[in-house]
Amino acid sequence: MHIFEPITVKNLNLKNRIVMPPMCTYAADANSHVTDRHLIHYGSRAIGGTALIIMEATGILPNGRITDKCLGIWEDEQIAGLKQVVDSCHNEGALIALQLNHAGRKCEAESKDYNYTVGPSAIAFDETYRRPRELSHKDLSDIKQAFCEGAKRADAAGFDAIELHGAHGYLLSSFLSPISNMRTDEYGGSMKNRARFLLEVLGEVREVWPQNKALLLRLSATDYLPGGTDLAETIEIINMAKKYVDIFHISSGGIAPALLKTYPGYQVPFAQAVKKECHVPVIAVGLISTSEMAEEILANDRADLVALGRELLRNPYWVANTAWKLDLSYEYPYMYKRAYGRKF
Ligand SMILES: Cc1cc2nc3c(=O)[nH]c(=O)nc-3n(C[C@H](O)[C@H](O)[C@H](O)COP(=O)(O)O)c2cc1C
Repeated sequence: MHIFEPITVKNLNLKNRIVMPPMCTYAADANSHVTDRHLIHYGSRAIGGTALIIMEATGILPNGRITDKCLGIWEDEQIAGLKQVVDSCHNEGALIALQLNHAGRKCEAESKDYNYTVGPSAIAFDETYRRPRELSHKDLSDIKQAFCEGAKRADAAGFDAIELHGAHGYLLSSFLSPISNMRTDEYGGSMKNRARFLLEVLGEVREVWPQNKALLLRLSATDYLPGGTDLAETIEIINMAKKYVDIFHISSGGIAPALLKTYPGYQVPFAQAVKKECHVPVIAVGLISTSEMAEEILANDRADLVALGRELLRNPYWVANTAWKLDLSYEYPYMYKRAYGRKF
């Protein structure tokens, strides 16, 4: 089965095609450090056979966190806890990436001194969010530096890869969209200008992130809104970004409130289009939950990897359970071998 076929992308020797996408656990302590809950949560998905775990959005600055309960990576003291998660996933046979994020105008965190939000323009996400301060050129270079420092700390913690969060309306994505970016300088206006900040961050991070380690980028393929970004523009952005990026993780939406109709596999056509048009490895994600769906996507070459989000929250042993359900030869976790023996 395609689900169980190994694949190698740069340093990532993945034993199967199943990825856990980044999902906030809101379990960090008051210093935005890892807690026991993270160890148990990620360790369980590693035991369950997930090949690649992408750990939740982690703030490169205090006001880059989404909430006060999100993890941070802006100081060295935050490395040790992250390293424990990395080591426990490695011990259970999974590879692990960290999603580096700046929440931008969607930051809801208020603790840790910086209790203000920032964005490309001083436009709030909606009436429930704070109005961000428009970033100056000096702020932009500080944020690029913070992404680089975060990447260096992720390397020190032993992560196999990093994923830059360029989706869902957070800072990098808010530069891409004309809905949140109304700047009149070289960072706003044309698509090339709106993509400039993302490309600069990618260029600088690529310099400090080890050349032999994979760099992933998550993007929203479309804003689903008139005047927003769409798939055609995202394809152009990916063609400009691909010299820095090893795998693209294709999501959608989040730039502004929009009525979305979601249904099984609703984002797969975006991943498929990116794979076909840009010739890059892609992860498909979004309401994929069954082995039949995952197999269809992989076997038809619509994506290279499949991420299961909420399904892995419900069922941490999805990979092992799928192998058992389908009677496949599989290396079950040794302590659970008796559970995966004869069915009756
Ligand atoms: C509880 C929860 C937290 C999430 N946190 C993040 C996050 O930190 N970063 C991110 O890029 N996406 C985040 N997402 C989106 C997921 O990565 C995924 O794209 C989405 O859930 C769709 O996949 P699914 O239908 O398989 O769950 C989150 C989703 C959920 C349900």
